[in-house]
Amino acid sequence: MNTYDNLQEAAAGIQSKIGQRKPKIGLILGSGLGAYADTLEDAAIVEYSDIPHFPVSTVSGHAGRLVVGSKNGIECAALQGRVHFYEGHDARTLVFPARTLITLGVEILIITNAAGGIHHDPGTLMVISDHINLFPDHPLRGVNDERIGVRFPDMTTAYDPELQKIAHAVGKRIDFPLAEGVYAGLPGPSYETPAEIRMLRTMGASAAGMSTVPEVIAANHMGAKVLGISCITNKAAGLSGQPLSHEEVTETATAVHSTFIKLLDEIIKDMAKL
Ligand code: HPA
Repeated sequence: MNTYDNLQEAAAGIQSKIGQRKPKIGLILGSGLGAYADTLEDAAIVEYSDIPHFPVSTVSGHAGRLVVGSKNGIECAALQGRVHFYEGHDARTLVFPARTLITLGVEILIITNAAGGIHHDPGTLMVISDHINLFPDHPLRGVNDERIGVRFPDMTTAYDPELQKIAHAVGKRIDFPLAEGVYAGLPGPSYETPAEIRMLRTMGASAAGMSTVPEVIAANHMGAKVLGISCITNKAAGLSGQPLSHEEVTETATAVHSTFIKLLDEIIKDMAKL
């Protein structure tokens, strides 16, 4: 079967488990940030393994379930845990969950991730203004299905400027000003070398991570608006004199978790006014 039919099946499978709910905002929650899904009200939970064609995540710290619930009266659908390129999936498979949310009716996708800071310190939350795609695969490679999107999608405003403005305004309002920068998406799973980080800095990247870029491309392909927020969990390789570890990444993400919840709550509230 083609992707379009698979998407219809996945969305129908979810819809049969969540009744009449029509989520408008989708959330893809990264390393250590997945607990936000637990704050959604009147939640209906669907295990990834129960959704037709859904790829299942294998990384510790990434639960595999979809939580549909409301926030300030707005219906949201949160992917708690995502699959990564380094797990062995190709880019087309990787973006299937994001595409499914949009097929369900989601118009705005909020994508979060953990990232190594090139220009920003650990504990910073960074609004992604743009990205640099360094993945060796592309989610739109292959035959294009015009029912899903155009062959050559524009990426000039891949991260919606209005949503970025909302995020910054909320950051100021809750007294936690947000940073801004370009996210470099790399395949992983090894962290970068110090030389690669110097290269990325020269290229104009503010942070480096192993996710997000494929989903953002797919969301733009389908006409959804994207807000990307990176939690800077560590100084990028070579910038601190310390080795990098997954433990440091999850520890920092956990430390900013309550701020992150407040931020997302307020952002979603403001998005409701759009
Ligand atoms: N590099 C790539 N991905 C990451 C990092 C990093 O330093 N930290 C968290 N995810």
